[in-house]
Amino acid sequence: MCGIVGYVGSKDACPFLISGLQRLEYRGYDSAGISTLRPTGGLGVTKVAGRVADLDSALQRQALTGALGIGHTRWATHGAATEDNAHPHIGGQGILSLAHNGVIENYESLKFALQAKGYAFRSQTDSEVVAHLIADCFKNAAADQHGDGSVQSGIEAVQEALSQLRGTYGLVVMFRDYPDLLIAARCGSPLVVGVGKDEQFVASDTSPLVGFTERIIYLADHQLAVIRSNNIQVLHRDQGRIRPDIQTLSSQTVDANLEGYGHYMLKEIYEQPESIQNALRGRLDKDNATAKFGGLNLTTQQLRGIQRIILTGCGTSWHSALVGEYLIEELARIPVEVEYASELRYRNPPVDHDTIVFGITQSGETADTLAALREVKRKGHHTLALCNVIGSSIAQEADGGVYLHAGPEIGVASTKAFTSQLTVLSMLALYFGRLRHLSFEAGQRIISQLESLPSLVEKTLECHGQVKEIAERYADATNFLYLGRNYNFPTALEGALKLKEISYIHAEGYPAAEMKHGPIALVDERTPSVFIVPQGTVYDKVLSNLQEVKARGGPVIAIVDHDDRQVTNLADAVIQIPQIEDFLQPIVAAIPLQLLSYEIALLRGCDVDKPRNLAKSVTVE
Ligand code: AGP
Repeated sequence: MCGIVGYVGSKDACPFLISGLQRLEYRGYDSAGISTLRPTGGLGVTKVAGRVADLDSALQRQALTGALGIGHTRWATHGAATEDNAHPHIGGQGILSLAHNGVIENYESLKFALQAKGYAFRSQTDSEVVAHLIADCFKNAAADQHGDGSVQSGIEAVQEALSQLRGTYGLVVMFRDYPDLLIAARCGSPLVVGVGKDEQFVASDTSPLVGFTERIIYLADHQLAVIRSNNIQVLHRDQGRIRPDIQTLSSQTVDANLEGYGHYMLKEIYEQPESIQNALRGRLDKDNATAKFGGLNLTTQQLRGIQRIILTGCGTSWHSALVGEYLIEELARIPVEVEYASELRYRNPPVDHDTIVFGITQSGETADTLAALREVKRKGHHTLALCNVIGSSIAQEADGGVYLHAGPEIGVASTKAFTSQLTVLSMLALYFGRLRHLSFEAGQRIISQLESLPSLVEKTLECHGQVKEIAERYADATNFLYLGRNYNFPTALEGALKLKEISYIHAEGYPAAEMKHGPIALVDERTPSVFIVPQGTVYDKVLSNLQEVKARGGPVIAIVDHDDRQVTNLADAVIQIPQIEDFLQPIVAAIPLQLLSYEIALLRGCDVDKPRNLAKSVTVE
């Protein structure tokens, strides 16, 4: 996934472009570049095989001026992270420059045809093919005399080129000869147009627009925006010109800065009391001992008719789905299946008409999740989305859903989105349960537990100092095991993923009982095992597994929820979290696991917010 920005107006484009790329860098950061139309004419391009900061340094040395410009920060899909493969790409010997996010599936055949026409390529990217293809269409139009070389010719050349593409794109194009024209087009990769006064903006999401404008247009698939400094037209591939839907930037996207924290991830870990409160806000119905949602778009009768639920997502969101399975089956007695989105799309399981499919996603742009939901929707099933980003692709395409209201999550490692997803899933389980068999008293008890969450999470954050000491003891380990049972099996998986993705230590999560079936062979004095072992229905069983690891010399870090003498006498390190009922333990237990991965990654000198090889939202399949 990549970040794109564009500017056309009366000021120099560069400041917005750089600021916007800094705010989009979480989407990809292996190379970056900008292009402007110089006041003296001609397209200037500066690109680096590095971060946006490196690009900014290059521009300090050699400025790029001009009131028309585009920019890009890349997460490599085709071609390594090199300067040549960085965007923007020049089309047709300087006729235009282009920045692209997505994957063009037929780029090789298009490239071959363009090379046969004499086009020279500098990169291995599919995006450069698009740049030359537009240039070729532009030249053909001029040659056939039906292109009068006007702005309209440029627009039509872009439309013609796009009609030949298969795959996904969010792109911005600017022409050498049209100083007051920026074209943005979307098919499968998000783009937002910011509406200013005598200046207009384009970005991959709303974060770069904060502070520049509050009026935005979310482009939908197959829409193309013709953007001039004082006018915006939106054209649909099939419908022609359409009235743009200008919305107001929600306050949710304001404030994407660090506020004194060392990293976004730490800020977002500490935001969890508030983000969980925001997830709960307005959704607990105490009078009826249930929860309430405004956006499911299902009648009570339809909801009662649900016989099966499929929860699908990727990564951390898939872990949330696993907790959701336990929650909904326990509280609502509805059969639930959890599917990796990338598997669901191609596995083609039998799905009855009374099955609903929930896509769980923070970004709302994960290509695998989007594709899976489109697949089940195509078969006539009701799709719902648990999503954090308002107006994102999945939020727009699902038949209904629930927003997390967690605020921008910038750190690549998902933290507050995870606990907000679990909070919403708990309320959904309550809601479904109270439509069926769950008693009023049971509903009241669940609401009381949910209401205590923000303060319990606040209290749990007090373990940070203790976690830091534990991290210092085990930061050099090369393997970790994370073990839990029941609701804390998914918690173990999530703890392992956090450690893996930001500290690059190999970590595996397992149901604690599974240790005996192979993984216990990994246990030795160099392999710490993190046990999630709070009081509850499976406490004794997990304690036995902990003893099995200790008996083999394995170091044990234990997460307990009371002054647990037994575990304290056995474990090498103990972190105590507040007590809460089983079904909400993953939310509280996740906090020390998030902090442990953060502190270990710091000690190992890793880039916590932008770990190697990763991107915040994976918009390629
Ligand atoms: C989580 O820490 C990872 N960054 C990753 O697994 C992420 O959860 C996954 O890519 C799904 O993203 P989404 O929730 O935005 O769909």
